[in-house]
Amino acid sequence: AAPGALPRDLAGLRVVITAGGTREPLDPVRFLGNRSSGKQGYALARVAAQRGADVTLIAAHTADLPDPAGTVVRRVSTAEELRVATHEAAAGADVVVMSAAVADFRPASQAEFKIKKTDDHPDPVIELTRNADILAELVKKRAGGQIVVGFAAETGDEHGSVLDHGRAKLRRKGCDLLVVNAVSEGRAFEVEENAGWLLAADGTERPIPLGSKAQLAAAVWDAVTAVIHR
Ligand code: CTP
Ligand code: CA
Repeated sequence: AAPGALPRDLAGLRVVITAGGTREPLDPVRFLGNRSSGKQGYALARVAAQRGADVTLIAAHTADLPDPAGTVVRRVSTAEELRVATHEAAAGADVVVMSAAVADFRPASQAEFKIKKTDDHPDPVIELTRNADILAELVKKRAGGQIVVGFAAETGDEHGSVLDHGRAKLRRKGCDLLVVNAVSEGRAFEVEENAGWLLAADGTERPIPLGSKAQLAAAVWDAVTAVIHR
């Protein structure tokens, strides 16, 4: 192998990765969005392709990132579009990784025309409605040993540590692996570093040292291969 080449240990695996943040339209020019850059999902896709996987990347809104080499990229905008594209790609996939920041809510209705401010009407109130939980749906319809990986960004608070919240979310979500990012001031969003925990449904817990998103991606794929060979 070429110096520095990665092992082709994911050869033959069909993987689907979602990345970036969804946007929920309010009117023709406005949306509710989030700060996800998509960098972690893109790193997961790039590393998986380097290790030989057949990769479909479902990209919502991201920073201006180049398509990872050797992957098929499908672009979506809203949570509902991401949902449809993910279920379609997940049919027959061996691994699905939900690293996208999916909006939990969308405006209950989308205005046909730009919302205007006027002095003779009260200021508008935005009513929100729940989006479907794509990860929960994937877990529910998972078949043939498909591995479903979730992501969670957590902070410690008066109810427990980052790890406590991660363990509770893993149980609640029922996925095979949960990547828990510890979010403290300025960490995880729009930066190059990550730290947290990799929690597996069998109780395996590995800390994720502070490192690059490529290193975290490598740790996630190592954990996936551990689940496959269990
Ligand atoms: N997720 C999803 N569909 C949604 C919301 C989240 O598939 N509508 C996925 C995310 O991609 C992530 C995982 O669920 O992999 C956890 O997301 P998170 O926002 O941490 O969990 P929630 O259940 O939305 O809980 P919270 O109230 O803490 O936001
Ligand atoms: Ca959420």
